Amino acid sequence: MMKKWLLLLSLLTGLVLTAQAVQGDEDEHEHEGWHGWFKGAAADIKPVRNERYRQECASCHMAYQPGLLPAQSWKRVMNSLDNHFGENAELLPEDMKLISEYLQAGAADTTSFGRSGAFARGGKAGRMRITESPYFLRKHDEVPKRFLKHEKIGSFSNCVACHRSAEQGVYDEHDVNIPGVGRWDD
Ligand code: HEC
Ligand code: HEC
Repeated sequence: MMKKWLLLLSLLTGLVLTAQAVQGDEDEHEHEGWHGWFKGAAADIKPVRNERYRQECASCHMAYQPGLLPAQSWKRVMNSLDNHFGENAELLPEDMKLISEYLQAGAADTTSFGRSGAFARGGKAGRMRITESPYFLRKHDEVPKRFLKHEKIGSFSNCVACHRSAEQGVYDEHDVNIPGVGRWDD
């Protein structure tokens, strides 16, 4: 009789401990971004979910995530679309309003998502390039400029050429694959 009780007790203790272990695991993955972890990498920058933005601002280059530039920079970009890096990228007034609001709401110095804080800091006030932020320059100073000559790259602005999951907001260095060069082993 005594032995049966002991057996039951140890079984119950075992169950409780297992349940706690599973719970603990879930919490950890949640913390790292469970879905990202499951697919191999978590988003560093909040991915673009705005269809209008994607339609209007991703025909010449990828839809840069709002969290890659501070609010003041986005304001300057949007106020100079008639001469946008040598192109005319003007929008209809209603698109202008909608997209400006979307960019401001997710700007690097507005959101606390992932690495946006790093992209927000420093550089010339109102700089219009992500590629001129101190964080960007520091992260790419070991990447030789001659790599950019490959027809599939062109310039550092072409994030998605090397960061194959850039559209998902994933910029992890382990996910880099440079056309004409291959995977990046630092
Ligand atoms: C007609 C083509 C075109 C459209 C449409 C366009 N862009 Fe651009 N954009 C460019 C070019 C060209 C560059 C410079 C790329 C380079 O230097 O290689 C650029 C660069 C940029 C950069 C700076 C990238 C860097 O180097 O850090 C940002 C930010 C940007 N665009 C935002 C936008 C936004 C926001 C929209 C929508 C309102 C938009 N673009 C629509 C052509 C376009
Ligand atoms: C020519 C290829 C290339 C292009 C284009 C490029 N990158 Fe990178 N990027 C790299 C490489 C290589 C590294 C890793 C550098 C290292 O660790 O020394 C890197 C690192 C990074 C990192 C840091 C990753 C980490 O794990 O610490 C971020 C963030 C990043 N890039 C963002 C961008 C963004 C945003 C753009 C576009 C505006 C861009 N990159 C364009 C090649 C590129």
